[in-house]
Amino acid sequence: MLGIPNLVDNVASNQSREIFWDKDVYNLELERIFARSWLFLGHESLLPKPGDFITTYMAEDKVILSHQQDGSFRAFINSCTHRGNQICHADSGNAKAFVCNYHGWVYGQDGSLVDVPLETRCYHGQLDKAKLGAKHIRVETYKGFIFGCGDADAPSLEEYLGEFRWYLDTIWEGAGGGLELLGPPMKSILACNWKVPAENFVGDGYHVGWTHAGALMQVGGELAGLAGNRADMPFEKLGFQFTTRHGHGFGVINNAAPAIHVKRDGWAKYLADTRAEVGRKFGPEREELYVGHWNCSLFPSCSFLYGTNTFKVWHPRGPHEIEVWTYTMVPRDADAETKSMIQREATRSFGTAGTLESDDGENMSSSTFVNRGTITRNGRISSSMGVGFEGPHPVFPGIVGSSFIGETSHRGFYRFWKEMLDAPDWKAVKANDDTWDSMFTNRNYWNDKVDAAE
Ligand code: FES
Ligand SMILES: [Fe+2]
Repeated sequence: MLGIPNLVDNVASNQSREIFWDKDVYNLELERIFARSWLFLGHESLLPKPGDFITTYMAEDKVILSHQQDGSFRAFINSCTHRGNQICHADSGNAKAFVCNYHGWVYGQDGSLVDVPLETRCYHGQLDKAKLGAKHIRVETYKGFIFGCGDADAPSLEEYLGEFRWYLDTIWEGAGGGLELLGPPMKSILACNWKVPAENFVGDGYHVGWTHAGALMQVGGELAGLAGNRADMPFEKLGFQFTTRHGHGFGVINNAAPAIHVKRDGWAKYLADTRAEVGRKFGPEREELYVGHWNCSLFPSCSFLYGTNTFKVWHPRGPHEIEVWTYTMVPRDADAETKSMIQREATRSFGTAGTLESDDGENMSSSTFVNRGTITRNGRISSSMGVGFEGPHPVFPGIVGSSFIGETSHRGFYRFWKEMLDAPDWKAVKANDDTWDSMFTNRNYWNDKVDAAE
């Protein structure tokens, strides 16, 4: 493995190709990123009643997430503390207890070991069940979205989302109802490193007009103009890009939320009916974001398109494979017909047979597997588009780039990736809180731009 300082160059805005290939890098990611970050587990809407549960993953760890009788959510590692057998194999359901199939140990909704067969006869009352609960995972919820974390020293979920909540509130709270998720998720295996789709969603407006030209021409409407990435498009007027302290970021295309949806009447009307309330609560800048189309990643491995409303988790399976889970985001208070139409349109475009998502498969896998070659792998890859055309903004928190076609959000994603990989613990990460964005050196970019516009 190259030394961590060489994996990402924040000054030259490039990365070693080893980040998509090397097994040691991957193992360090498992320890220093996936075991320490808040990872998406589910949404309250997927397990709405006490006793409801789902099974999911945190990176390669299997997890049970369960809705407790008191309304809270608990998660624990889906592995028996006897001989390690997987406790639960269902995708979802309702259960007061989970029974291991091997020798019948029984776990409660919170993962505590509540019963074992022949406890008196054969364990002679000597088994300390209190010490044998399934391994507990921290769970916290933000606006109905449920996250888990394997590190007791990690900051709270709210701190981890940090200033990115300013953006998320716009859509996850919106006019009041917020968003929920529809399952069951689609699940598929893709032969790529997990960061290729994560970086694609966080900051790749560039590929849209090229990779998806065919689909865009077919859909027509607002985004058809992007097809072919024509130089006469006024990209600087069409949107922005954002990145934040903990790597979360997104790009927005103005006034294009439902653009990929062909049958969109209900969704478009919902947005038209609610945007004024969003403007009243959050101000005009966020009202614009509310009706824009977002390509977003929450660091490390959860991504969504707001507007198109696909919602993805890239569960890593070694450095060269992922298991993709795909849900649909819908407004909680939309009518049933609108929700189901959003689900159909999101699936048609970004499901496993998605008319756009199917275009991306080879981009993901070939960016990974070209690095099988040693000479290839010794090279570097570039994220320098728009360097210097970005900086702190008087209204938007974090760092803002001047166009949705740029690599501002890539730079922010890999900046934090490197910081996490380099840091022995969260204390070392927190020590950088005040200086994290110093790599974005054009501090006056937005002030100068605003002055020039006035
Ligand atoms: S491994 Fe689970 S009961 Fe034995
Ligand atoms: Fe794409």
